[in-house]
Amino acid sequence: MFDINNLLRENIKTLKPYSSARDEYQGEASVFLDANENAFGSPLEQNYNRYPDPLQYDVKMRLSGIKGVPARNIFLGNGSDEAIDILFRSFCNPGVDNVILVPPTYGMYEVSANINDIAIKRVPLTEDYQLNLDGIAEAIDTKTKLIFVCSPNNPTGNSMNRDDVETLLANFNGLVVVDEAYINFSRQKTFIQELTEYANLVVLQTLSKAWGLAGLRVGMAFASEEIIEVMNKVKPPYNVNEASQQLALKALQNIDQVNNWIRETLTQRDKLVLELKNFDFVLDIYPSDANFILVKTTDARGIYNFLVGKGIIVRDRSKVELCEGCLRVTVGTPDENIILLQTLQDYK
Ligand SMILES: Cc1ncc(COP(=O)(O)O)c(C=O)c1O
Repeated sequence: MFDINNLLRENIKTLKPYSSARDEYQGEASVFLDANENAFGSPLEQNYNRYPDPLQYDVKMRLSGIKGVPARNIFLGNGSDEAIDILFRSFCNPGVDNVILVPPTYGMYEVSANINDIAIKRVPLTEDYQLNLDGIAEAIDTKTKLIFVCSPNNPTGNSMNRDDVETLLANFNGLVVVDEAYINFSRQKTFIQELTEYANLVVLQTLSKAWGLAGLRVGMAFASEEIIEVMNKVKPPYNVNEASQQLALKALQNIDQVNNWIRETLTQRDKLVLELKNFDFVLDIYPSDANFILVKTTDARGIYNFLVGKGIIVRDRSKVELCEGCLRVTVGTPDENIILLQTLQDYK
């Protein structure tokens, strides 16, 4: 049985969180002299002299409407990278606990594990980039706290079989972190609706991809209230700045624009796949549920360097396990994709 108390680090269980000025007084007032801010203003057109809402209530309320999840089940971070790090810091004892990673996958899970001195158990995906459930079951021990499942997966682009993820959720007593950074491009539906079913589920999403706000650094975690409470306790008090909160709030009103871009991205992705298949140096293109494709080539490094020389940057993933010969190509605008394809015509 999943019990958060068996999972939490002892020092986090007893942690008394920082109490900020805005935590201690949240009402309206005409004179705020409690936070040592500059009372005059900011040397800008807009004032940012006041600290932002530590719990980002307005943004969460809007997200709640879009995602169909109560605000109390939402954590906001300085990118979802911050949520990843906070999960390590809340649940994993340095030098003692371990996490399961399923490479090839998003690199920050490993970096965060290393920063926090948490051992990594690697259970590579199968040849068709799916979860190796038997391998994961064997790897789990009493010190295993987190399993990261990226779906759609970066860098392979595919979604994980839903039943496999549910098998993990139903059988693992630690947290299953389902990273849905690319979910807006996917044919699969989100796991957010399963939060009521699984107490050990954490879903990560971000405004950095489909929402076009990578520069604002706003990431989301959806989980049970008790997990969200822990994450809020551990995070820095003002982890999402005022400009990001205001702009995210505004952007979240433009969902139609975002949906149009998603549709266009998928059309462009399909076109790109068809065209790339014509090059004899392209050996395979893996099915993608994301806004990028993984392309297996005869000479990843050579093509990468050739494109760099022409001012086009893709990602060389050829040194990554199970991605030998592969380049990861983000779907661009129609014009950018044409430039890529035309340039590749000259590759010998
Ligand atoms: C799978 C995955 N998760 C998380 C992130 C980080 O997102 P954020 O910009 O919200 O930190 C990325 C960024 O590339 C990603 O690919």
